[in-house]
Amino acid sequence: MSIKLSEFLVSNSDIEKCPKDNIPEYPFIGRSNVGKSSLINFICNKKKLAKTSRKPGKTELINHFKINNSWHLVDLPGYGYSVSSKTKKKQFQKIITSYFKKRKQIILTFILIDIRHKPQKIDLEFMRWLNSIKIPFCLIFTKSDKLTNKTKIKNIDFYKKTLENLWEEVPSLFITSSLKKEGGSEIVELIKKLNEDFKKNQTIFLNPFFRQNSHKNL
Ligand code: GTP
Ligand code: MG
Repeated sequence: MSIKLSEFLVSNSDIEKCPKDNIPEYPFIGRSNVGKSSLINFICNKKKLAKTSRKPGKTELINHFKINNSWHLVDLPGYGYSVSSKTKKKQFQKIITSYFKKRKQIILTFILIDIRHKPQKIDLEFMRWLNSIKIPFCLIFTKSDKLTNKTKIKNIDFYKKTLENLWEEVPSLFITSSLKKEGGSEIVELIKKLNEDFKKNQTIFLNPFFRQNSHKNL
């Protein structure tokens, strides 16, 4: 599936003002600056659909995009960047928490991880929290153009091992570079499949990722 049509719908901090349609929704979340907005632009093939910046903290609100007239991509503020002011961090946290707690249309969440870094506590804790509120997720490694193949493999292996120690089942992993336009079609294909399941069942959450994963209590 290619994305033929993408349009910005609405931007706000109030979950009650998000679009009311009962169509599948896929949020992109992760640390500030990880490349959420860039990845949305890449997979929609539109340079300026979502606002990006070199400085962390660019996306401040919940941004809804309608894709192919039938589903939503959502760009969210990032979490946990040390240069953000405390007030901003708190604001972002509040927006993110209420979005995930209240938004019933979410089919699957994409958590973005910078491929250069070792597993970060804040990401691992976020995964655990999402699971505790029964939201399925998978992981997207970003900025793969910044590493050699060898280091990429090493980092992903290490991440997988970390996840294996924490979870009964390791979530699906994708590797992307928005700069080099790599790894986008696999994500779009997955969304297409989930949208088809949704159409057949008309039931939110009936997807393979909803087998409740268990976090190991270490
Ligand atoms: P916030 O909205 O601040 O939370 O950030 P974000 O996660 O939306 O990140 P954004 O897409 O704004 O990108 C942050 C910076 O990373 C920008 O300078 C992008 O150009 C850069 N960037 C994003 N994706 C890639 C990538 O795949 N490769 C490289 N080299 N740079 C990237
Ligand atoms: Mg952003």
